[in-house]
Amino acid sequence: MGIDFHDKKNQTTYSTRIADQTWREELKQLVAVENISNAADIGCGGGIYSKALSDMGAESVTGIDFSEAMLKSARDNCKEYKNIIFKHGNALETGLESNYYDLLLERALIHHIKDLKACFSEGYRVLRNGGIYIIQDRTPEDCILEGNDSHIRGYFTELFPKLIAKEISRRYDSQTVVRTLKEAGFNEVQEVKFWETRKVHENKEQLLKDLSGRTGRSILHDLDDYELKLLINHINESVSIDKAIIEKDRWTIWKAVK
Ligand SMILES: C[S@@+](CC[C@H](N)C(=O)[O-])C[C@H]1O[C@@H](n2cnc3c(N)ncnc32)[C@H](O)[C@@H]1O
Repeated sequence: MGIDFHDKKNQTTYSTRIADQTWREELKQLVAVENISNAADIGCGGGIYSKALSDMGAESVTGIDFSEAMLKSARDNCKEYKNIIFKHGNALETGLESNYYDLLLERALIHHIKDLKACFSEGYRVLRNGGIYIIQDRTPEDCILEGNDSHIRGYFTELFPKLIAKEISRRYDSQTVVRTLKEAGFNEVQEVKFWETRKVHENKEQLLKDLSGRTGRSILHDLDDYELKLLINHINESVSIDKAIIEKDRWTIWKAVK
């Protein structure tokens, strides 16, 4: 099991949200995006964050993904944006020009990457000197926080301990990320933790509908249809409010400078 990024069925799974203000505010603390000429969004999925970089003032954004299905949804999602282009490529070998980009974003990508050193070395190659690398992912620690009315993801691992094993096996701890960034040549490595509002659901019904589509949550592809139903029942019983649900996830961001 696990998500198949190349399957057309999953094409829109990473294009139906917009990047929340909590993300934009956090990024602003780390990068003056309005001064960025050339940004790249590697593992761009449906272009949610390519669009946000443009909205925040980046002059041009290049989105890269190894899935043609994702790129199709990204192109649809960003069709109004003349300063965003999408190209097919692998994070380990992007095909992008060397020493060119001012900013590279890799959001929710590295837990899908086996050779982290190769990924970071490619990031180093394409950034110009002084260019900024932003990696956003969850550490094992971020993945085992308990569930509550806003941290819905906590209920996934609470009900299915097998998902904890899966998360721990695929998520990098912070020490590994920092060490590998330094090995790839980066300096000024900085780490921040933050809660990103993933989505505001109008009510519980909307949240349950979002979960039933496994939208934007690759871990739910490790549950079969029956297990997903059990999870939805569990969340229905556990979430105590039926007004707007502000769903938040805990993330780690690493900023590194070439
Ligand atoms: C979890 S999604 C995140 C999408 C987007 N960055 C976001 O945060 O909404 C991971 C994306 O990385 C892409 N991906 C995974 N491995 C990749 C690789 N080796 N090279 C390029 N893209 C990759 C997948 O196709 C998918 O679109």
